[in-house]
Amino acid sequence: MTIQIAAWDRPLARTGPFSCGEPALDRWWREQAGQAERRGSVRIRLAVIDGRVAGFCAVTVGAHDPGALGGRWRKRPAPVPVVIIARLAVASPRQGSGVGTALLLDTFRRLDVVAGDLGFEATTVTAKDPGLVPYYSRFGFQPSHEHDPLLYLRVKDLPGAGRDRWQRA
Ligand SMILES: CC(C)(COP(=O)(O)OP(=O)(O)OC[C@H]1O[C@@H](n2cnc3c(N)ncnc32)[C@H](O)[C@@H]1OP(=O)(O)O)[C@@H](O)C(=O)NCCC(=O)NCCS
Repeated sequence: MTIQIAAWDRPLARTGPFSCGEPALDRWWREQAGQAERRGSVRIRLAVIDGRVAGFCAVTVGAHDPGALGGRWRKRPAPVPVVIIARLAVASPRQGSGVGTALLLDTFRRLDVVAGDLGFEATTVTAKDPGLVPYYSRFGFQPSHEHDPLLYLRVKDLPGAGRDRWQRA
């Protein structure tokens, strides 16, 4: 099974139904993803298997209050600029076969590339339920506060980061 990662493609995205089993995510995919991508408020990458969308990852930019991020960020005088993993979903029949991992690793690679040109310090995700915290932890995401669904991964800790390319002396 080959998983290809591709940029948003409306005809491809509309080839057949998609369900990850989470009604809110499925609804967002059906009703808002296309518009959000067209407006440029998110960028969506698609995981494609056999010509069908097997998953997607939507990212956007934002900032978190230092208090919300907690820990090392607590004393920052201003909101911390981040790239937010806004939506991550894998079609139910494809779950557990590496599609989510492929989408996240693609996202990390792309963030690593733009980190040389855009200032942001971390990527964040809000785990939809506590059971997902271990999933994101596998990639190095850390909880902002104990039992808090907001997780962060510093740019310098992105898996596979080629930080020598962009880190300032
Ligand atoms: C959560 C989700 C994105 C994971 O994607 P996936 O393609 O199913 O996951 P992967 O195949 O990449 O999983 C990689 C590993 O994480 C593990 N894993 C998957 N879901 C997990 C979870 N909820 N908690 C802990 N580990 C998990 C897998 O068992 C696998 O382990 P292995 O490598 O030892 O076999 C996907 O299951 C999904 O879309 N779920 C419904 C929607 C959702 O919850 N989205 C996230 C919103 S925050």
